[in-house]
Amino acid sequence: MISNLSGGKEFRMIAKTMYGLEDVLAGELEKLGAKNIEKLCRAVGFDGDMVTLYRANYCCRTALSILKPIASFTANNEHELYDNVYKIKWEKYINPDGTLFIDNSVNSRIFNHSLYASQKTKDAICDRLRKMFNKRPSVRREDADLRLNLHIHDNQVTISLDSSGDSLHKRNYRANNGQAPLNEVTAAGLIQLSGWQRDCNFFDPMCGSGTLLIEAAMFAYNIPAQYYRKKFAFKKWGDYSAPLWKKVKAEADGMICDFDYKIWGSDISGNAISEARENIEYAKLHKDIELFRNAIEEQEPPEGKTLVITNPPYGERIEVDDIFALYERIGTAFKTKYEGNVAWVISSDLSALKKIGLKPDKRITIYNSNLECRFCRYELYKGSRR
Ligand SMILES: C[S@@+](CC[C@H](N)C(=O)[O-])C[C@H]1O[C@@H](n2cnc3c(N)ncnc32)[C@H](O)[C@@H]1O
Repeated sequence: MISNLSGGKEFRMIAKTMYGLEDVLAGELEKLGAKNIEKLCRAVGFDGDMVTLYRANYCCRTALSILKPIASFTANNEHELYDNVYKIKWEKYINPDGTLFIDNSVNSRIFNHSLYASQKTKDAICDRLRKMFNKRPSVRREDADLRLNLHIHDNQVTISLDSSGDSLHKRNYRANNGQAPLNEVTAAGLIQLSGWQRDCNFFDPMCGSGTLLIEAAMFAYNIPAQYYRKKFAFKKWGDYSAPLWKKVKAEADGMICDFDYKIWGSDISGNAISEARENIEYAKLHKDIELFRNAIEEQEPPEGKTLVITNPPYGERIEVDDIFALYERIGTAFKTKYEGNVAWVISSDLSALKKIGLKPDKRITIYNSNLECRFCRYELYKGSRR
């Protein structure tokens, strides 16, 4: 349960996420005390104070960034964009000799070059500050003093402070990336979409570098999503309160809990298992996750009720000799070794998914990077067949 820690005046925020995870993120924000939650496309709007902003950054597993809008206006051409940006009191947000970075998401017939729109925005900010102080900020992505988000939809422009900085999928627990790893936000989203209530074992029999295993362990033990991360853009804001941040962090860290079931991973590749082991040790979860080197058709799942979530090769980023035969083997393993359990598979290869030979009772559309995928649920009854 969260406390009623107060963080001053309330304001509107936008949490960005991936397509298909808006409901999950809205649920996470609600638990953190966010108000007036509104689901948008690949984003969720909400009200809250600085405590909410710190909590959202630290705890939301399915947010990519937390934005604080500071200006919205209409711009029908580049001059209107420049003039409206110039009017914003940038001296409130950045020192004239500081560093600045502008991310953009532009979907507009007027501004069809997103980089050009960012450039115009940067020029207006720098020109205003140069006129006032005879100095201007420089552009730097890494660790910028001020991170901005420029959002343009047709002629509607919103400029926001990006309170997160680097995307929040960068949890800082990876010693290495592995082959075709799942994005951490996607992995956390899949686990929550599966409806897992931390009430049984978790198993990924094609675990690669271990992203699903680490996200499952963090979810199971209620370890905050950014437990391993130190850098957040809001720490450079003028109104940053280190004592308040410390309280928010201590409160969330104090909610880490026990978990009584097993978290297992296996993979056919020795390299994948080494990479998963390194990542798991880096995250200090080696006592909580067990790894095995085995093909899915050989590996036994843990005893007792087990939720399986797995991300097999799609034949896109990892080449596979016979993708259909691989998915048939996944199906055979499910039918022969996993009776009484539920398994979820994410894949972009819809024909290969059919080769599993079981009828999914749920199919959710989700993206892995830019690949449109299906996340399919299989209830594995005794003698399950299509
Ligand atoms: C897309 S990767 C998984 C990536 C993982 N989710 C991550 O985040 O790193 C697919 C994995 O399936 C493994 N694999 C392929 N065939 C297998 C089989 N028959 N049994 C077990 N693992 C297999 C590959 O070695 C690879 O690590």
